[in-house]
Amino acid sequence: MTVITTKVRFILITAIIVMGVALAVQRGEAHKAITSKYTYNDDVFPIFRDRCSRCHVTGGVAPMSLMTYDEAFPWAESIRAELVSAHMPPWNADDGFGDLKRAHTLSPNEIDIILTWATGGNPRGALDQKLPEVALKNEWTMGAPDLALRMPAEFTVAADRMEDTQEVTLATGTTEARWVRAVDLLPGTPSIVRSAVISVKAAQTPPSSSPTPEHVLVRWVPGHDPEPIDSGTAFRLPAGAELVARIHYKKTWQFEGKPLTDRSTVGVYFAQTKDARELLTVPIVSPTLPAGDARDRTVTFSRTIDEDLQALALSPEQVPPNITLQVEAVRPDGSRTPMIRLNTRPDWDRRYWFEHPLTLPRGSKVEVIANLDDPDILSSAFSAPSTPRAPAPVSIVRLALNVVPAQARPIAP
Ligand code: HEC
Repeated sequence: MTVITTKVRFILITAIIVMGVALAVQRGEAHKAITSKYTYNDDVFPIFRDRCSRCHVTGGVAPMSLMTYDEAFPWAESIRAELVSAHMPPWNADDGFGDLKRAHTLSPNEIDIILTWATGGNPRGALDQKLPEVALKNEWTMGAPDLALRMPAEFTVAADRMEDTQEVTLATGTTEARWVRAVDLLPGTPSIVRSAVISVKAAQTPPSSSPTPEHVLVRWVPGHDPEPIDSGTAFRLPAGAELVARIHYKKTWQFEGKPLTDRSTVGVYFAQTKDARELLTVPIVSPTLPAGDARDRTVTFSRTIDEDLQALALSPEQVPPNITLQVEAVRPDGSRTPMIRLNTRPDWDRRYWFEHPLTLPRGSKVEVIANLDDPDILSSAFSAPSTPRAPAPVSIVRLALNVVPAQARPIAP
């Protein structure tokens, strides 16, 4: 659906621009439309290169490259819309609520430059100016992993499919328990590897009032910076553990009707220390969400913490798309600390690490306000006139809070 919409939108935008230019040229006032003091060459390209090129580059996962003027300017209106709604670059957590590591957000100055250019006639700059070529980067950001586990075989997304998922179990072959500080994925075919979840295969843990070991090693999305965990905390990998890699593939419309294959590699980075604290998880689960029209529905739920903990990270585990989640810690004395405000977007779930561990004394509550009002209803007037929205397929909100006990001493795995 989105694919067709995108294509139609692209054609429409191109048509409108071509018409506009033709009219303007006829009237001999092409230059008059340009109000932007910023040009692609001098001002916009450097931002696109730094902030968008991990995905918007030839061979990248995004539907189009933005690395040349000719590729970028037809998308100006779409870029404006994505920036105004804070959909791009994909980060989805609000600035200024909670303190998150490595936020992928644009500065106000960068936003101003792009919006001015996008709405002010999209000037190119000097015609003879040569910009550096930007090539796709597909490499291990943390260097070669200690353990590289390649998918056992190629996976093909068939010609008649736009999306597909493969789930593979990978033997680690380790002979002793190890601490893991980070896990990453190196796509074989970056243009279709849209997201992945890599976990330690483990028996289902029964519901518990205490935190349980975290089995999800990484929620990978394109442009992912693997997060080596700080302060001696790590994931525990039992001897001979198996990993489950669930990879979601998505083709962009250029590849419609073509089969594409991928063979990605999972990279495991062991912690160098002998002793560490194990990263644990506490689920925060909503009651069943009210069904019906997705307007004006706010649901508040919380989880009380039964022991002294430090919270390190939070991830959406199961969330309906296009809702807002605001998470705060409420201490027994009533004081509140913002943790995150998140706008959920399909397929962009990641683990958000707090800049500093948050102390949650026993009796604290982690409170979630879920606003089920779909903000996209407003912008859909632009993107897809009168397309009925599919009902949200997820009827609960489930977040995973990563913690360590406040008193935990580092131990051997
Ligand atoms: C981490 C990868 C990534 C980064 C970084 C990124 N994008 Fe995207 N972008 C995507 C993907 C993938 C899509 C397709 C929609 C989706 O899957 O969510 C997309 C879609 C878009 C669209 C909408 C295209 C359409 O179909 O209408 C625009 C516009 C856009 N991006 C602009 C930008 C700009 C501008 C930046 C940098 C400031 C940026 N993006 C950074 C991955 C990225």
